[in-house]
Amino acid sequence: MHYFTQKNGQLFAEQVAIATLAQAIGTPFYCYSAATLRHSYRLFAKALQSLDATICYSVKANANLSVLTVLATEGAGADIVSEGELRRALAAGIAPEKIVFSGIGKTATEIIAALQADIAFFNVESAAELVLISQLAEQENKTARIAVRVNPDIDAGTHAKITTGKAETKFGIAWEDAEAIFAQAAALPNITACGLDIHIGSQITDLAPFRAAFDKTRALLIQLRKQGHKIDYLDLGGGLGVAYENAEQATEASHTPTPQDYAALIAEQFGDMGCHIFIEPGRVIAGHAGILVTSVIRTKKSKARNFIIVDAAMTELLRPALYGAYHHIAPINSPTKTDKGAELVWDIVGPVCETSDFLGLDRRLIEPQAGDLFAIFTAGAYGAVLGSDYNSRLRAPEIIVDGAQYALTRPRPTYDALLAQETIAHWLPKPTRKK
Ligand code: LLP
Repeated sequence: MHYFTQKNGQLFAEQVAIATLAQAIGTPFYCYSAATLRHSYRLFAKALQSLDATICYSVKANANLSVLTVLATEGAGADIVSEGELRRALAAGIAPEKIVFSGIGKTATEIIAALQADIAFFNVESAAELVLISQLAEQENKTARIAVRVNPDIDAGTHAKITTGKAETKFGIAWEDAEAIFAQAAALPNITACGLDIHIGSQITDLAPFRAAFDKTRALLIQLRKQGHKIDYLDLGGGLGVAYENAEQATEASHTPTPQDYAALIAEQFGDMGCHIFIEPGRVIAGHAGILVTSVIRTKKSKARNFIIVDAAMTELLRPALYGAYHHIAPINSPTKTDKGAELVWDIVGPVCETSDFLGLDRRLIEPQAGDLFAIFTAGAYGAVLGSDYNSRLRAPEIIVDGAQYALTRPRPTYDALLAQETIAHWLPKPTRKK
């Protein structure tokens, strides 16, 4: 559920009219709802309250500092995958002891930064990484807590590009190597191997793959403990999907499966294991909490298709181009009876010079006018973070609304700022303006 609602035919983010925001800062822009973030986080916190658990919000889903600060205030931890995300999490006030560091390519500099910050633990994804962490911890005079990320070789039934728990993906340590790596960790200096970690994919809409992965994890945990390893932490990853269809009317059931179902499964599988549970949800916290607002540049009817050309593109929302993802798109002002024309089938596309640059295909809509505003729903997760300035476009600003107040948390850059990021190589001729 979310707080983007129609009132008198106009879309509001909580108590703020989207049209007012569009007038103030122009389009395209991202708009986040703090109340929705809190609501989604609290659903999880409530579902997990009977377990000893920490919710490490997955920063990659939406790294906006205000979004992180809202979640930090709720008591969230963070799942990070880079030094940049570490810095963001700390800047937002997330407690270091609630930060877990995932990812297969942690560099020495990043590991040192995390050791100095004294994060909860590293999710180790290879023997070479483990050795490096040990060396760096020794050098820094620290003891690194680590969890081993094991790859359960389970098909999460999601899009191939966001499946992580199959043996052929680059993630985790092969299941059959798990015992050896724990033995290696136990022998290394400045390492405390205290956790087991899995992650099988993202946008998972069925509990069955989680159950299969948890079954295997439970058996491995028992086995490792028998071998004398003291495993206190279980990191069960993220991955819960959200409903992208009918997103305008999203209800609690829009979390599929619900956090309660997911928590019940965790309790059933691990409630008796005496472990502190960490989970890393991203999309299910931030997904419904953001929309992308865009305005119509013009329409274009060709022989084969009708196009609505808008000022947002794959540079703002890459998911349709990258995964063929569906996002619900609706006009900000619901058409009144008087301006109701015939509906046509449209492709909603951006100005970027790529055929893959579309935001929605085959949408039945009344023909809009230039300047009409549209909202693209469920864009709070993996939206702005995947943005780019391809085609030398200016990155979309980000606004957060909280009740009746709003703040422009990331302004639109200027073209001067875009160009100032670069210099022309010193041996090239100084550009002169030709008349
Ligand atoms: N933990 C780890 C280790 C992950 O790799 C991910 C996501 C998460 C947590 C958070 O998963 P979530 O709860 O958000 O599903 N760009 C894609 C999604 C990529 C997800 C990558 N890993 C998309 O737009 O669908």
